[in-house]
Amino acid sequence: MTEPTAAETAQANLKRVRTRHFQSAKENGVKITGLTSYDQLTASIFDQAGIDFLLVGDSAGNNVYGFDTTLPVTVDHLIPLVKAVAGAVTRAFVVADMPFGSYETSADEALHTAFRFMKETEAHAVKLEGGVRSAEQIRRIVDAGIPVMAHIGFTPQSEHRLGGHVIQGRGAGADQLLADAHAVEDAGAFAVVMEMVPSESAKRVTEELKIPTISVGAGPHCDGQLLVWTDWAGLTTGRIPTFVKKYANLSGILTDATKSFISDVHGAQYPGPEHEFHN
Ligand code: KIV
Repeated sequence: MTEPTAAETAQANLKRVRTRHFQSAKENGVKITGLTSYDQLTASIFDQAGIDFLLVGDSAGNNVYGFDTTLPVTVDHLIPLVKAVAGAVTRAFVVADMPFGSYETSADEALHTAFRFMKETEAHAVKLEGGVRSAEQIRRIVDAGIPVMAHIGFTPQSEHRLGGHVIQGRGAGADQLLADAHAVEDAGAFAVVMEMVPSESAKRVTEELKIPTISVGAGPHCDGQLLVWTDWAGLTTGRIPTFVKKYANLSGILTDATKSFISDVHGAQYPGPEHEFHN
């Protein structure tokens, strides 16, 4: 582990992370860290450990509700999860993800959904997918006083149109990525997530934009890094994306714990005298 710089220490000592701290982090060269979270226990652990922001992602569709994609997720699915996460943190900035079908038809619809998240949970911001195509929605939400984190590159809500989990921003796609990045910055987004894009394209966007860029598989040049916590902690048992570094093996730990419990119960090792009540 390397010694933290003065700017990193100042960022770590913040009482509450706010949008201006995303900006100062970029300006001071401090990398921003984010994880997804869907419940109060993980939210509290990640917050206490010093994570900068928590995204209550529509990846809850896969990781909480057991869907194959994020497409079936609704605002009603996410509201209780955002409430739990926002209620558990003291320092981390909490972002609520706007699910598929909750913002695309108009800026009015987008604002209505953003209002629901801000009134019914204690989220600090919302996130929505799309660059140029979502700029009007972003502008309307920001004008109403709600911070927006944008999301460009691979956007999972469009996975059928994109032909699956395909890297975006390659070759001619680099110009579209840049246009999307500028569109969301001009619309007032305070940060932009770039998912599954080549490092070179992400570097160019990061250098051109004033707002911070957050990588999900977009390489080391972005201003911050975000991962889905269940992949990052090795709880996901299926295929995980190649850009994920696994920091723990929770599925292995829980499998071993379950086997030990079954064996203890069968072998009369649990409950022991210390686990019993007596008259
Ligand atoms: O829903 C989610 O977890 C996300 C991240 C992968 C960016 O949108």
